[in-house]
Amino acid sequence: MSNNNLPVFNSNQVRILIVDDEPPIRKLVARALEPEGYEICFASDGEEAFSILLESFFDIVITDIVMPKMDGTELIKKIAEYLPADVIAMTGRIDEYSYDHIVGAGACDFVQKPFGPGEILLRVKRVLRERQLKEDLLKSHKELAQSQKFESLGQLSAGIAHEINTPIQYIADNVAFIKDSFQDLNEILSHLKSLSGSARNDSPGPSLPDQIRSMLNMDDLEYMAEEMPKAIDQTLEGIRNIRNIVKAMKDFAHPGKTEHVYTDLNQCIKNAAIISKNEWKYIADLVLDLDETLPEAFCNPGELNQVFLNLIINAGHAVSDQLKCDSSPKGKIKIKTQKLGNWIEIAVSDTGAGIPEDIKSKIFNPFFTTKEIGKGTGQGLAIARSVVVDRHKGEIEFETAQGKGTTFFIRLPLITRE
Ligand SMILES: Nc1ncnc2c1ncn2[C@@H]1O[C@H](COP(=O)(O)OP(=O)(O)OP(=O)(O)O)[C@@H](O)[C@H]1O
Ligand SMILES: [Mg+2]
Repeated sequence: MSNNNLPVFNSNQVRILIVDDEPPIRKLVARALEPEGYEICFASDGEEAFSILLESFFDIVITDIVMPKMDGTELIKKIAEYLPADVIAMTGRIDEYSYDHIVGAGACDFVQKPFGPGEILLRVKRVLRERQLKEDLLKSHKELAQSQKFESLGQLSAGIAHEINTPIQYIADNVAFIKDSFQDLNEILSHLKSLSGSARNDSPGPSLPDQIRSMLNMDDLEYMAEEMPKAIDQTLEGIRNIRNIVKAMKDFAHPGKTEHVYTDLNQCIKNAAIISKNEWKYIADLVLDLDETLPEAFCNPGELNQVFLNLIINAGHAVSDQLKCDSSPKGKIKIKTQKLGNWIEIAVSDTGAGIPEDIKSKIFNPFFTTKEIGKGTGQGLAIARSVVVDRHKGEIEFETAQGKGTTFFIRLPLITRE
């Protein structure tokens, strides 16, 4: 049914739908509420109300229970399942049964008939106050989550800075050593040059080979000959490391595309491992078991980068928790990729503390966390699920054993190029 006669609402006004098969009751309720400036609309049964609700947003629905077509309880259930409106039920008789029935179906309040205008207004105001409180809470939760996200990004960047600083430190030491050695060699060279110009075999004093031998401190030269190539190799290695970190950061933060593109997931995983290195390297060895023949996945790389990063950081935290009650010095994090039929599977395993039975069903809930403030906001797995399931039509599951570890499996559909 289409409702072309719906009023056009002012978006800032509170909107209330009054549902009752008896026109006098509808009028009574409307008269009580209109002076407050609320926008009012009417329906005479549950069916009509639900179709109006599907077409237009309402803050509150005030509904009778016993009505033709769809009754109030059915309407309340449907609203609770699909719509954001709060429901106040109007009912002739409230006993324990009908209370359970109405509130169990999802109404947030009820008023017993007959009621006066003041009473219904009070209920509406209370519901509106609660809505506002909920909205404020959600807003502050979001702000908090956002600020904690920045905080954790900040923590990660401190780790990345550390990862870059370490090679910079030994590059600096090595270059200083190479510089000193070069100066020494240069001095020797210039001595040799002057000797070859002035010395003759028949001149008095030590012979030319003796002069050269005494000038050269053989130990020093041997040391330089041995150490300089090492210092040069190490320096090049350090520069390579820094280049990899910077590239991983760049690819990670700006994968270049915001939509789905064919992507080398192995490379995404390597990048996530590099930029999170400081989070796990002291507590775990990270093993990459990546299928080098893995087909490219048709996905949004920026979103999946975020998922892999969160799974690695979670694994690191779980291992670190387990080490507190273990004698072993380090745990293990393993990431395996493989093609499984028409799926690409990424498995992230850890030898961490495992997920306790009583929180297994909650870990994907937004804001569910067992970590202290600053360490986790409880968004990682909620985002991971939404990215994998909603945005990529994939699956995310886990297997866990307490005290032994956890494996998260991500499966993405294999979409072959045309
Ligand atoms: N590998 C794991 N081992 C054990 N528990 C885990 C593991 N991964 C997640 N959990 C549990 O699930 C909870 C939710 O994880 P999620 O990644 O959503 O949030 P978080 O890590 O607490 O915070 P955030 O990811 O927002 O920084 C964690 O607090 C932890 O209790
Ligand atoms: Mg997390």
